[in-house]
Amino acid sequence: MDNGKCMKSFHFPLSIFHFPLYFMLILGIESSCDETAAAVVKDGNQILSSVISSQIELHKPFGGVVPDIASREHLKKIDPIVKEALAKAKVSLEEINAVAVTQGPGLVGSLLVGVCYAKALAYGLDIPFVGVNHIEGHVFSVAFENPPIQFPAFALIVSGGHTNLFFIPEAGKYKVISRTRDDAAGEAFDKVAKMLGLEYPGGPVIERLAAEGDAGKIKFPIAKISDGRPDFSFSGLKTAVSRYVRENEIRIVVANDMPSQQIKDIAASFQATVIKSLIGTTTKMAAEYQPKTLIVAGGVACNNALREAAQKLGEKLNLPVYFPSKHLSTDNAAMIAAAGYFHLQRGEKSDLRMTADVSMRLQNLDNEDAELKRKKVRYRL
Ligand code: KG4
Ligand code: ZN
Repeated sequence: MDNGKCMKSFHFPLSIFHFPLYFMLILGIESSCDETAAAVVKDGNQILSSVISSQIELHKPFGGVVPDIASREHLKKIDPIVKEALAKAKVSLEEINAVAVTQGPGLVGSLLVGVCYAKALAYGLDIPFVGVNHIEGHVFSVAFENPPIQFPAFALIVSGGHTNLFFIPEAGKYKVISRTRDDAAGEAFDKVAKMLGLEYPGGPVIERLAAEGDAGKIKFPIAKISDGRPDFSFSGLKTAVSRYVRENEIRIVVANDMPSQQIKDIAASFQATVIKSLIGTTTKMAAEYQPKTLIVAGGVACNNALREAAQKLGEKLNLPVYFPSKHLSTDNAAMIAAAGYFHLQRGEKSDLRMTADVSMRLQNLDNEDAELKRKKVRYRL
């Protein structure tokens, strides 16, 4: 690292536009759900280190994330993970210029661990810090390995907690044009896996079994939203899988059984239905909004079948499709640092009153929340 260029004691009196000659090292911290992660990112797009401690093994016996266990584990892990990230980046704490931390949405106990740690660190080092929306972090996860985003852009963010299609007319402006009305896509993978006797998290195991199954074997329905909005819904699909399993007396996977061909066919048909819904809606919306880049990110973006379908859509529409690599698709702190860099560049930083926001929204354009509320429309963030 070229330490000569690094500004050691670094303050943001008004804005960081004062520092174009120096590179900027941001420590990113992520603890919104069941991953404790820290990363050191240079100038918003170069990863010096990215460390992720996953709690999957702890939550596996429960088939999902147990909030209380998650926050205790974050408390245990946050300090060693930050130290590991600094060591891997070969950077001392004093060389860090700013801290970016996930502010929300997420589990309150989990978020608080990261937020309190970040605040204390920034206060102690007398450097700026900024709270980042976790979903915006997923949007920025493509900042490292792809060409710059052309606007207007689309971002299909598909994870365990969220499924949203954003229209992004310019950097930092977001309009949700499709949202899930019930389960997130990743949540549907997790719940269907549980139903079939498969392990948590469901996405990777369903993808593995789907590769050996017949996706055309079972016709599962794609939900149509009765009010005509271009939204997603996956809870009906989950119920359809459950009914199929019951009515066809499918033997679910017990202990270390080899999954049957029927289970593989269900996995393949379910996965194909989720992808058809995601890609079908994105295609329809693209015709209306004419984006110049399609970002596909979030844990479900690890899925190769989804990547192929999105790539095909891109080729058909002559639309470049950007994915994060798999390490950056699931929750990580590098994406939080990248989003934090963007905000700090604009002079936006948090103060010590900032706290975790479990239902933080990423929408600052044509917000339809009030209208949806008035119409008593239920939807996920
Ligand atoms: O982004 P993420 O790590 O955490 C949230 O912000 O929710 O996403 C986790 C979700 C889980 O629901 C998991 O089952 C899903 O991503 N996932 C996958 C795959 N890998 C992870 N879903 C489908 N196919 C995969 N290969
Ligand atoms: Zn996430």
